Amino acid sequence: MQDHADAALEAPLRIGVAGLGNVGATLVRIIQKDGEELTRKLGRKITVTAVCARSRSRDRGIDASNLEWFDDPVALAKSDSIDLFVELIGGEDGPALAAVKAALEIGRPVVTANKALLARHGVNLARAAEESGAQLGFEAAVAGGIPVIKTLREGLGSARIARVYGIMNGTCNYILTRMGNEGISFAECLADAQKLGYAEADPSFDVDGFDTAHKLAILASLCFGCEIAPDEIFVEGITSISQADIKVAGDLGYKIKLLGIAQRSADGIDQRVHPTLVPKTSAVAGVDGVLNAVALETDHVHELLLAGPGAGGPPTASSVLSDILDIARGTKVPPLGVPVAELTPYRRAPIREHEGGYYIRLNVRDVPGAFAAIATRMGAAGISLESVIQRPDLRVSEPGVTGTESRTVVLLTHSTMEQTVRDALQAIKGDGFIVGDPQMIRIEQL
Ligand SMILES: NC(=O)c1ccc[n+]([C@@H]2O[C@H](COP(=O)([O-])OP(=O)(O)OC[C@H]3O[C@@H](n4cnc5c(N)ncnc54)[C@H](OP(=O)(O)O)[C@@H]3O)[C@@H](O)[C@H]2O)c1
Repeated sequence: MQDHADAALEAPLRIGVAGLGNVGATLVRIIQKDGEELTRKLGRKITVTAVCARSRSRDRGIDASNLEWFDDPVALAKSDSIDLFVELIGGEDGPALAAVKAALEIGRPVVTANKALLARHGVNLARAAEESGAQLGFEAAVAGGIPVIKTLREGLGSARIARVYGIMNGTCNYILTRMGNEGISFAECLADAQKLGYAEADPSFDVDGFDTAHKLAILASLCFGCEIAPDEIFVEGITSISQADIKVAGDLGYKIKLLGIAQRSADGIDQRVHPTLVPKTSAVAGVDGVLNAVALETDHVHELLLAGPGAGGPPTASSVLSDILDIARGTKVPPLGVPVAELTPYRRAPIREHEGGYYIRLNVRDVPGAFAAIATRMGAAGISLESVIQRPDLRVSEPGVTGTESRTVVLLTHSTMEQTVRDALQAIKGDGFIVGDPQMIRIEQL
């Protein structure tokens, strides 16, 4: 005799989709097109029965004739006409949060691609899901089409993660790749990214590193069993990266990538987002253009690199669909990998105690004694230099500074504590031998 749970897993799964933009409309299209094949794979019919967006009249390239329409995402989330609620509206609060909460509170499973929502409210939403026994899937929220959440929650469920790092913003990776390949400026690359639809009209969330920080906060929670803490991340974007940096880094055997990095340290969890010099021979250096990659360093598997499309309608909808299939099969996993009560409070390791190598670019005034003064400051701070390169051919103009003869000098340090480097650069600036601010980029040995 069949019990109720088995019977429920054979009944058709009725899906309600809120948000019919890039991802939502693509998801509906895929389910409408591949429905029969999905049903065969699952042994259970899955079907989109209800949708919600702002405009009823917009042509979205989907057949909406048999779909129940809702103007209010919360009403859809609570409607008895669906079994699973998919949130593809976006935004960390507002209708997305209200609708997801409403569904979870009545025990209805939810799938979302919303990293902002997860980064801000993930712990509370996971708690609400646990309390009502609902599933919460968010594979698409980190690195679009790359199945990194499933890998962490299930594939590597028993592994101890030492470090996670990756390229998690396609816009930044596209800009840095083109700057490297074509020798063009940040501004030109950004303008092209906007024309091609890779970057928003206001690109600051991407290029200032906050989008990567949201994704990193979610990954760090899954990797280290800690609370999600997006505001505790050290964040530096890519807007200050110049052609001079790209060229010198290249000559020294490095590429510059915007990395999100989280690792355990004696003081807590060290979480950083910043432009990083990575060896050209490292796997992550080969991940170019709009692609994303996430590397997981574990005790037994060592390093695992997952790379692929981090955004776009079809890759993102494919991750949403993979969560839907898991729920349709009855797979049950705690949303954050462990029960919420087991999450440890987040303890931030201060960036000033970060130890590593540094790339430092200075515009040094062309006057006697300047170079000796810089070397003296570095020596006095106990900073050991791996190389010193003078590149008079690579002059970087500083805003508001004209008519000063200067030359570009690049220093590469051996492993040093960040605060020591910052103090030395402050002293060098105070000596008056450099023009503008020093450029400092962290080097990561991968
Ligand atoms: N696009 C990607 O490549 C990508 C990748 C990874 C994750 N994501 C995440 O996926 C989610 C959706 O992204 P998207 O690119 O598909 O966004 P989008 O194209 O801007 O679509 C948003 C949809 O939400 C609807 N909407 C907005 N406010 C609403 C409200 N108050 N009530 C009902 N519907 C509302 C819009 O309706 P109208 O169409 O009527 O205006 C639109 O259909 C976001 O959380 C995003 O971060 C996207």
